[in-house]
Amino acid sequence: MIRTRLTETYGIRHPIASAGMAFVATVPLTRAVSAAGGLGVLGASGMPPELLRSELRELRAGGDPFGVNIIPRFNGIEHIELCAEEQVPVVVFFWDDVPKEWIERLHAGGCNVWLQVGSVAEAKRAVRAHADALIVQGSEAGGHNRAAAATLSLLPAVIDAIEGAVPVLAAGGIADGRGLAAALALGADGVSVGTRLLASPEAFAHDEYKKRLIAAGVQDTARHNIFGPDFPDATVRGLRNRLVREWEKRDEPPPYKTVPAEGHPVIGQMSLYGHAMSMQRFIGLPPTPEFNGDFEEMSLLAGESVGLTDSIRPAGDIVRDIARDAEEIVTRRLPGLIVR
Ligand SMILES: Cc1cc2nc3c(=O)[nH]c(=O)nc-3n(C[C@H](O)[C@H](O)[C@H](O)COP(=O)(O)O)c2cc1C
Repeated sequence: MIRTRLTETYGIRHPIASAGMAFVATVPLTRAVSAAGGLGVLGASGMPPELLRSELRELRAGGDPFGVNIIPRFNGIEHIELCAEEQVPVVVFFWDDVPKEWIERLHAGGCNVWLQVGSVAEAKRAVRAHADALIVQGSEAGGHNRAAAATLSLLPAVIDAIEGAVPVLAAGGIADGRGLAAALALGADGVSVGTRLLASPEAFAHDEYKKRLIAAGVQDTARHNIFGPDFPDATVRGLRNRLVREWEKRDEPPPYKTVPAEGHPVIGQMSLYGHAMSMQRFIGLPPTPEFNGDFEEMSLLAGESVGLTDSIRPAGDIVRDIARDAEEIVTRRLPGLIVR
């Protein structure tokens, strides 16, 4: 077994967290990761508070540590109160500055606060804001991404800069035991995995999206700012499709910045938290199993680790295999390279 500050502090068997992917990391994925000995993280951005309450209770009933992911602009103090009341072990924030009062409320409720960061400057600010751990996201990561560099360079730079102040997880490009072993070698205490776990039966993503993920190679993603009228500052990494290929190399601003949302054609329908929605071109939401429409026009968030993701496998097996293979590398392969 691999023991790090992360496994020790959070009482988890493996130093592996799942990414709290909004809309797709729902209770089944979160529970499966936690039950396998990792830290499952629920994607709660934009989730109605009453639904969050019932999902937290369901996760609590599982008996394993878990986390909740929140992008501040899509949530409010009521979500924070719920997490504090339910003593959620870990609340992960990303992208926006987190109000000081939110962090204080969570700490008072016994929750740990993790911040995902993409640069040395952000990491230093996060430590000053009293984060209990950092997730360092490299530019190869899937989803919203503004990382200043790839994981291999950014992670050790952050670790040096914060001088061990808090545990650090690596995110971006990690899909198997080699990725975990490499992150540990670079000084991380654990990893946060998104793309690999999206290709699991438990992820609440459409089968066609999963099919495209496992068919894609390492070269098939792009980082761009094409989608998201509701999140205009968000650069993302995702699979190329017709819409991405059409816009990724253009110099003009993304079209949703110049054309009012109602001017864009409808490309499909989806139900979101029980509400039927018409999906217009450039919408930033990922296709869940309830999407019906044109996948060539949708945002298919995914990281470069699609190149290492070639099958749909149970999330628990993915977590256990990453841990087992990393241990094998550290205990056998690497020592075998040493000549005395
Ligand atoms: C489909 C998808 C949705 C994501 N949604 C979120 C989110 O809601 N909040 C967040 O903090 N990060 C989100 N991320 C980014 C992850 O937190 C993480 O940085 C990334 O998945 C790690 O890289 P990997 O995809 O190579 O494993 C998302 C990633 C993906 C692939």
